[in-house]
Amino acid sequence: MAITIKSAREIELMKEAGRILEIVHEELGKALHPGMSTKDIDRLGEEVIRSYGCTPSFLNYNGYPASICVSVNEEVVHGIPDKRRILKEGDIVSLDAGVIFKGYHSDAARTHGIGRISKEAEELIKVTRECFFEGIKFAKEGNHLFDISAAIDSHATKHGYGVVRDLCGHGIGTSLHESPQIPNYKVDRRGVKLKAGMTLAIEPMINIGTWEVNWLEDEWTVVSRDHSLSAHYENTVLITDGEPVLLTLTDNTSYTL
Ligand code: MF3
Ligand code: CO
Repeated sequence: MAITIKSAREIELMKEAGRILEIVHEELGKALHPGMSTKDIDRLGEEVIRSYGCTPSFLNYNGYPASICVSVNEEVVHGIPDKRRILKEGDIVSLDAGVIFKGYHSDAARTHGIGRISKEAEELIKVTRECFFEGIKFAKEGNHLFDISAAIDSHATKHGYGVVRDLCGHGIGTSLHESPQIPNYKVDRRGVKLKAGMTLAIEPMINIGTWEVNWLEDEWTVVSRDHSLSAHYENTVLITDGEPVLLTLTDNTSYTL
């Protein structure tokens, strides 16, 4: 499938989808506390998404049974919310969510610490976020797609972390997953040339230990093979002929690099 170039009208709708998802993440981030179940997070997320007239795009996607992917500690992505899974101080939790607004998707993920977390966990979350920002330095018309991949890889590798290879970022628009696939690891080619109007979900998934993963028996939850902690950070990004526009992160006070 060819990579879609969004029109001005489509970009407006994607901005709206992105802004709503940003608010969903802000609400979820504020609500997290020890003693809460991963199902509580899903319920709140779905409620906020629907309160903006959006649909949760993950719900029933290939049979996925929830609105928010909640992945704790060694879980990389696609953790299934469960009322018996209770968050405790020191856990780290990756929240991945998508919304559909008037037919247009946005997709974003954040990793949070619950209460006080270890220095190692803190550092992993910080570096995973930095990987995204290193990557998007290349997210500009005229550059090549895999320049983004290489930048993410080199930042993670510099810290001795494992870059998950089994899952990638992706184009996004009227579908959650569009062309192209965006690896978070270095590949031997430069990839397609980026053009203004492309919208990409860029999403490093980084493990403290090995990059290798396993799938649990629920057929969804991806875990690091050595059970080391894993973090995930994702935004939906609009390519322009200048700086990239972060559709799911418009509030620049909500992050520091
Ligand atoms: N958030 C994932 C992605 O970024 C997709 C999750 S699909 C689901 O591509 F089915 F697990 F929800
Ligand atoms: Co995604």
